[in-house]
Amino acid sequence: MSKVASIEIEGKSFELPLVVGSENEIGIDIKKLRAETGAVTFDPGYKNTGACESAITFLNGEEGVLRYRGYTIEELAAKADFLEVTYLLIFGELPTQEQLQKFNEDILQHSQVDEGMKKIVNSFPKSTHPMGALASVTSALTAFHPETLNVETEDEMYDAIVKILAKFPTLAAWTLRRKNGEELTDRDPALGYVESLLKLMFGKTGESYEPDAIVTNALDKLLILHADHEQNCSTSTVRIVGSSQASLFSSVSAGISALWGPLHGGANQAVIEMLEQIKADGGDTTKYIDKAKDKKDPFRLMGFGHRVYKNFDPRARIIKKSADEVLDQLGVEDPVLEIAKGLEKTALEDQYFIDRKLYPNVDFYSGIIYKAMGIPTDMFTVMFAVGRLPGWIAQWREMRLKKEPIGRPRQIYVGENKREFKAIENR
Ligand code: ACO
Repeated sequence: MSKVASIEIEGKSFELPLVVGSENEIGIDIKKLRAETGAVTFDPGYKNTGACESAITFLNGEEGVLRYRGYTIEELAAKADFLEVTYLLIFGELPTQEQLQKFNEDILQHSQVDEGMKKIVNSFPKSTHPMGALASVTSALTAFHPETLNVETEDEMYDAIVKILAKFPTLAAWTLRRKNGEELTDRDPALGYVESLLKLMFGKTGESYEPDAIVTNALDKLLILHADHEQNCSTSTVRIVGSSQASLFSSVSAGISALWGPLHGGANQAVIEMLEQIKADGGDTTKYIDKAKDKKDPFRLMGFGHRVYKNFDPRARIIKKSADEVLDQLGVEDPVLEIAKGLEKTALEDQYFIDRKLYPNVDFYSGIIYKAMGIPTDMFTVMFAVGRLPGWIAQWREMRLKKEPIGRPRQIYVGENKREFKAIENR
């Protein structure tokens, strides 16, 4: 295969080198395009833009393939636990027993969150959306850990990484406890990473708490499925903020804000709200399918469609099975689930959805499981953030270690040409 691409601009031709990835994906290297031709590329939403070379996650949207560091998501979801996957994503290899133990101990050692942070969380109104609170407190954490601001060496990075992994579940749980007006508690060191998150969220002061094994396993799996997804909106945000050499905590805080939107992580909350709305409106799924197809109606079927997966979302397949098991094991009978099933069936047989390759994505099912676990709707995206944290860290670390240049896209200016200033009385 030729190692260059040729383009012609205004009668002049130019050659651009190709970059070929380990799965034979081809990129056209345009680093010198503007210098040599004066032109830039134009790609709103970056649908065709490779922003970096990355060795973390491979996904093939056409074939529904997702692998972290070469391991399939199916195998990791079945055989690994969330902390192992966290280590794998960040450091590139599955940990040995000793490595995992040390990682776990380092995280435990930093799991206490500063008292000052409690004051900040308690100062939020109870009505605060947990995602807004989480983004704020993650940023506020830099004030209590100035040593994590300017990290250069791998050891300094490791220190910042274990600190945020240690404190993040507590902060996430505190956003819920604040909403419920409950005391902000600390992590129970006797429990594993995911079990302790459940206790942090649901444990009552002065009462013992036994995490349910089914719920713990399901949550562990959900977190693995969400742990990384290459250059999505929030991860690209983390990388671009981090490219200015802003700290890890600030970069993650920006990622949380990006994740919050209903077209990204906020979709899991939007799915349940949509299902509840359909239920309250008599359960007529066809009516809502028609609304989603109507171009004059802004309504979209939440949990359907994906920027990259155009055949099926492999995470959705795993989670759909999990949803059935968890609901069965927990003995949950939820009318909203029947509406979800009806909606899915109707949409999958409808030509509009077939033509546009719109399938249920991971968030169509994750909200259903979170609901069955007793997690409030506005905490769903917070759960997603806890799951995505290892991916954000891995991508930030990769970007810093490669010393990538500051992210700064160009634009095509379409505004007014030069004009004279008019004094206010003449306008
Ligand atoms: N309901 C109805 N129509 C849809 C939907 C939907 N959920 N998603 C896409 N379409 C239609 C669009 O109207 C468009 O139709 P057209 O070609 O006739 O104009 C076509 O399908 C292509 O849609 P785009 O918006 O161009 O696709 P894009 O790749 O930009 O968007 C996205 C992907 C944002 C996920 C979109 O499918 C969507 O809004 N889905 C609902 C929100 C959602 O579930 N988000 C979660 C994503 S997964 C995650 O973040 C973990």
